[in-house]
Amino acid sequence: MFGHDQDTASALEAISWAQTICFAPMLFKTAVLLKRLGVLAALKAARRSHGLTKAELAEQLELSEYALGVLLDMGLSGRIVIEDDAGRFSLTKTGQFLLDDRMCAVNLDFTEDVCYQALAQLEASLKTGRAEGLKVFGFDDGIIYSHLSSLPEPARSSWFKYDHFYSDAAFAPALKQIAPLQPQHIYDVGGNTGRFARVCVNTLPEVKVTILDLKEQLALAQAQLSAQPHAERISFCAVNVLEDKPLPQEADVWWMSQFLDCFAPEEIVAILRRVHAAMPDQGSLCILELFPDAQRFEAAALALNATSLYFTALANGNSRFYRARDFLELVAQAGFKLSARTDDLGLGHTLLILNKA
Ligand SMILES: C[S@@+](CC[C@H](N)C(=O)[O-])C[C@H]1O[C@@H](n2cnc3c(N)ncnc32)[C@H](O)[C@@H]1O
Repeated sequence: MFGHDQDTASALEAISWAQTICFAPMLFKTAVLLKRLGVLAALKAARRSHGLTKAELAEQLELSEYALGVLLDMGLSGRIVIEDDAGRFSLTKTGQFLLDDRMCAVNLDFTEDVCYQALAQLEASLKTGRAEGLKVFGFDDGIIYSHLSSLPEPARSSWFKYDHFYSDAAFAPALKQIAPLQPQHIYDVGGNTGRFARVCVNTLPEVKVTILDLKEQLALAQAQLSAQPHAERISFCAVNVLEDKPLPQEADVWWMSQFLDCFAPEEIVAILRRVHAAMPDQGSLCILELFPDAQRFEAAALALNATSLYFTALANGNSRFYRARDFLELVAQAGFKLSARTDDLGLGHTLLILNKA
């Protein structure tokens, strides 16, 4: 589900949701701090004794009752905790997910550590078309990609965990769809830390993989892969796909995972035209992407639309998660035809297998 095409909310529901939106930053920060200050974990540990009072929490966590009071009251409004008549607080199901669910953890850390401060520059980024928010990490060139490995902590770890969490889940099922193509040599464009390359050489016994990425990123991939099994079948090629230079021509399968969303539409067409020129006529282009309009769950579409604002304020100011129907038009403009589409791989990825038209 992508969004709603009918406005069916009552006036009361509508104004309540509007108020939630108005105070969403406070609610978000409350969730972060209830988690990071140990309140959620303490309430979980006390679930068999019907939760904890504010005073008990204050003693356990060495926080003032004032501090706990404001956080817990906002936690009640945000349905993260409940309170019984004796003033004992317990976790709701939402509170439990915020504490223990891996996807919630990755999303919360990404929003807090990578995006939160930079979003103050969203308006400027929308107006200039540059990622003005990147300045909060000390970078002034408006493009995050060459700085990924030098982001300050905890932004660096939270960025990589976020990226890996989603793509890792889709690699094995996607590779099952690609195996029948009998790839000999795969170019993994934007291969990042080399996790797909590792899955490939571990799964397909003969295949060679070359990771094409920015030179700054390749150093990290090389360091992570050198001691891995079958590392001799993985090679590296420093490429900036935005430079108007011919691309290497040895691969029969080109793989791009969570890659083309890093670019503006006209850049995507230009990159794919150069891939088209470098690919053999019988070669295949395999694109693993996240499309908001291909999601089964409303929350998944929301997460992708929110992440598009990260692209605006922090990544490069002109890219996003595209709707599938818009993306397919770009691919066709570059001279490719769709041979197969599989939705719902991993946590909501779509695999497109394309050939020269
Ligand atoms: C979002 S990450 C995707 C990582 C990985 N493919 C995955 O699925 O998890 C995008 C990758 O594209 C690379 N990249 C961005 N701009 C690039 C460019 N102009 N040329 C080559 N690689 C680029 C980045 O360095 C990064 O490794």
